[in-house]
Amino acid sequence: MEMKENNILQQFLKTTTLEQSADTPAMAGKEPPMTEKPAPAGAKVIPLPEPGLLPDKNVNFLEMVELRSTVRQYSQEALSLNDLSYLLWCTQGIKMVLPNGDSMRNVPSAGGRHAFETYLYIRNVEGLAPGLYRFLAFEHVLVFEASQEEAEERFLAGFKATNMVKNSAAAFVWAAVSERMTYKFGNRAYRYLFLDAGHVCENLYLAGQTINVGVCAIGAFYDDRLNAALNLDGENEFAVYAATVGKM
Ligand SMILES: Cc1cc2nc3c(=O)[nH]c(=O)nc-3n(C[C@H](O)[C@H](O)[C@H](O)COP(=O)(O)O)c2cc1C
Repeated sequence: MEMKENNILQQFLKTTTLEQSADTPAMAGKEPPMTEKPAPAGAKVIPLPEPGLLPDKNVNFLEMVELRSTVRQYSQEALSLNDLSYLLWCTQGIKMVLPNGDSMRNVPSAGGRHAFETYLYIRNVEGLAPGLYRFLAFEHVLVFEASQEEAEERFLAGFKATNMVKNSAAAFVWAAVSERMTYKFGNRAYRYLFLDAGHVCENLYLAGQTINVGVCAIGAFYDDRLNAALNLDGENEFAVYAATVGKM
């Protein structure tokens, strides 16, 4: 078993070196992929409170870093739409759109490629019917994907800690559209996608702490089931990381 694991690691490291990643679609002069998955025609779009109007708090940075910890149990108090907007702003919010259509966001991303779509399974957020949504970062809105009735069973089945997801106010899933990253970095993109996700989730932890929202990062999900629940093919688009949130 150990030998096999080591082979997988060695293969991954060797096939994703800079040298192995020199031929990229960008170098070949290909058109860049879309920077965001558009909302399907006719989809219900829900505006979120504007980031510029969100309440902010003075925080003691060291205290915030030192007190951050994973929270797996939540009160049954609902998150406000302001809270959700704030968490989305801090994790994927767009500060500037560049002339070529790329974005500068509140989190770093290798090459500024920002390959994630944020899916949200909402259970307890004021003003939102429970169900599956997706965040459109460029517009700072939610797009409704499926009702609780349509989506919940399949979504919950994607996680090992089903109960924690069920007791959370919302679950975030960051799903990669890998061609956004491979366009610029070839094979090496497969390292960067997973590194990028860590930055996003850390911002969720820190942002949550400032508004009394607990966060638990989740790596223990069943890829096939979660991808199916989000209607992702698991090859070009796939769940990379997730997190539950809820009032403390
Ligand atoms: C990549 C990653 C994956 C994780 N996956 C899970 C998970 O699936 N379930 C869970 O309960 N906690 C998960 N956690 C939370 C860790 O268990 C937690 O960060 C760790 O126990 C340290 O505790 P702290 O966050 O309170 O410092 C994950 C954390 C990271 C960074």
